[in-house]
Amino acid sequence: MAKITASVFTSHVPAIGAAMDLGKTQEDYWKPLFAGYDFSKQWMKDNKPDVIFLVFNDHATAFSLDMIPTFAIGTAAEYTPADEGFGPRPVPKVQGHPDLASHIAHSVIQQDFDLTIVNKMDVDHGLTVPLSLMCGEKDPAKDSWPCPVIPFAVNVVQYPVPSGQRCFNLGKAIRKAVESYDEDLNVHIWGTGGMSHQLQGARAGLINREWDNAWLDQMIADPAACAATPHIDYVREAGSEGIELVMWLIARGAMSDVPYDATDLEAARANSVRVKHRFYHVPASNTAVGHLILENN
Ligand code: DHB
Ligand code: FE
Repeated sequence: MAKITASVFTSHVPAIGAAMDLGKTQEDYWKPLFAGYDFSKQWMKDNKPDVIFLVFNDHATAFSLDMIPTFAIGTAAEYTPADEGFGPRPVPKVQGHPDLASHIAHSVIQQDFDLTIVNKMDVDHGLTVPLSLMCGEKDPAKDSWPCPVIPFAVNVVQYPVPSGQRCFNLGKAIRKAVESYDEDLNVHIWGTGGMSHQLQGARAGLINREWDNAWLDQMIADPAACAATPHIDYVREAGSEGIELVMWLIARGAMSDVPYDATDLEAARANSVRVKHRFYHVPASNTAVGHLILENN
């Protein structure tokens, strides 16, 4: 059967992608940020997954205000890096895993989560920047990403957005779906976006180190309590774009120390997660960058 063995959490600032694409990673401003991902790039090589289930948000790139799915799963064979106004990033196309994606869609919808099925989608910085941070520079002419990716887009741009609680429960359903897939596949689940940032309005530039780190502590140690954090707390404490953090709860909910339901509490208690890496850095453009790698025991 397929199994989720690890989760990766990272912010997705577009300027990080630009710094990599323009060869600026060793400049004074960027160097400390990229140093925080040295461990992660090696870890990716040492723990190469068969498939990455990548939870991200589209920034009105693939989905305009014409149509806004709350949760959308990519079932395509391939995804092209999007043009967000400065031309597409010079990174490889993303290969999908239509068979596993379709299986997860079937299972998760049968578990009463309404997903939108996406057979064609360009992927913006929300997806490509986390891949670049974890996999390093890739030349689209000769390189590819290490494995297929299932993009899972969450609406955190246009209100109403899903609650952290719903995202956490969805993560449990995704794990159940993965574990009911026949093939032996090593799957990683990524939660991306965040941490504190606000890009517009009177509080533009807001960063909240203390809140971010307390949220990380709780997300790791007591994810069920963290999932109960109301929207207004994210917006007040972490800024209007801090709400992207609810996506991390999807990945956290898919880890094996989280019970699917009351009947497997014991099994879940027997499991635990290891923090393999934790990193936090300010500034990166207007955003506080947070990063975690958790492994299932
Ligand atoms: C920035 C951060 C984001 O999450 C985003 O989607 C766009 C810009 C920034 O900090 O510049
Ligand atoms: Fe964003």
